[in-house]
Amino acid sequence: MSGSALIHPFSVLAQHENEFIKIVSGEGVMLRDDAGNEYIDALASLWLCQIGHGNRTVIDAITAQLDQLQTYNTFAPFSNGPAVEVAEMVRARSQHPDGRVFLGCSGSEAVDTVLKFARRVHQLRGDVDRQIFVRRTGGYHGVNVGGTSVQGLEPIRTGWGDLLPHVVEIPNDDVEPAAQLFAEHGDRIAAVISEPIQGAGGVIPPPDGYFEGLRRLCDEHGALLIFDEVICGFGRTGSWFGGQTFGVTPDMFTFAKGVTSGYLPLSGVVVSREIAELMESDPEKFMHGYTYSGHPTACAAGVANIGVIESEGLVEQASHIGTKMEEGFRALQGDGMLAGYRGLGAIWAADLGYDAAETREAFLKRGVISRPVASALMFCPPLVISDAEIGQIFDRLEDAIRATSPVTA
Ligand SMILES: Cc1ncc(COP(=O)(O)O)c(C=O)c1O
Repeated sequence: MSGSALIHPFSVLAQHENEFIKIVSGEGVMLRDDAGNEYIDALASLWLCQIGHGNRTVIDAITAQLDQLQTYNTFAPFSNGPAVEVAEMVRARSQHPDGRVFLGCSGSEAVDTVLKFARRVHQLRGDVDRQIFVRRTGGYHGVNVGGTSVQGLEPIRTGWGDLLPHVVEIPNDDVEPAAQLFAEHGDRIAAVISEPIQGAGGVIPPPDGYFEGLRRLCDEHGALLIFDEVICGFGRTGSWFGGQTFGVTPDMFTFAKGVTSGYLPLSGVVVSREIAELMESDPEKFMHGYTYSGHPTACAAGVANIGVIESEGLVEQASHIGTKMEEGFRALQGDGMLAGYRGLGAIWAADLGYDAAETREAFLKRGVISRPVASALMFCPPLVISDAEIGQIFDRLEDAIRATSPVTA
């Protein structure tokens, strides 16, 4: 018996509720549990809390919106101010400042939406046989049926019966197999979907020239390039969006998480002007949307959060965090305590060279929350983290590695 009704995501369901850590409050990068233990949130919850916990500006904006209008839908003929404003703020900072923005709740909803949009674009172009989605090994795109189908993490894909047909996988480290795929099936490929930096798969940046190659292949063969910016968006890589960091423009991209720093659920899809015009030319009504698309309170959180990211210079801060973290990883590697490290801006992985689960537990006991993926620990701290707090992360990481490493112990 698990001891509670609650089913935890990505958990062993027989695990007892008492074994979970109950987080009760947060301030900045710090969290506190119900036993009074304090933690540095080195993963920003799940890759999302750019502005840190307890930000008064965003709390006040949410509260003010709740006082006025808590909820209302944006299905025709209705609209609301915060939804219009947050859509404008997102596109203005993106590579498609004249594009259009669809709003949902979760990253998974944004992914399923963008996949449907890709198919629709080709149907509107009269290219009805373009159904293939190309996914990358190691990619994570949420857990709705579409996202599950296009993710490149096999254990998450299996065990659910048949998923979407017409999905083909390419390696994440070499563009040549993609070129071969396009040469053979280019006229049937609807879109390639990729995170700018693969997050849940283990913080894997693209090889040099990889995205330029994908962009070229898509252009040559009439397919769409989709970036899933659910983790990389809103400053994480040192630009507003990962596509800007890598200098490659997708036709459409998803966002979620950092748009509200997770204070309330909000996600979306940005489409280019060209796609917007194609969709606007559709004589049929647009038959897609969620009850919570454009939820006014979630959107008010987004407006305030983007304002905080801007006024506190957090996009630029991500690059500074990157410099500090790289220094820390380099030093640990120099001392023989890491097999390697990878990342950029404020998203990193430290490769221990052995299964990271035990070191993660030791790290947690020392008051730092990170996430293990195979032999690596993931880092994605709030963008408000100070140099002193980064220093504490590295001190405790060193200590945790010393306590658990089969090499140094
Ligand atoms: C790149 C990416 N896409 C989609 C998702 C799914 O988002 P959500 O869990 O909000 O549905 C995630 C979640 O981590 C993600 O990292």
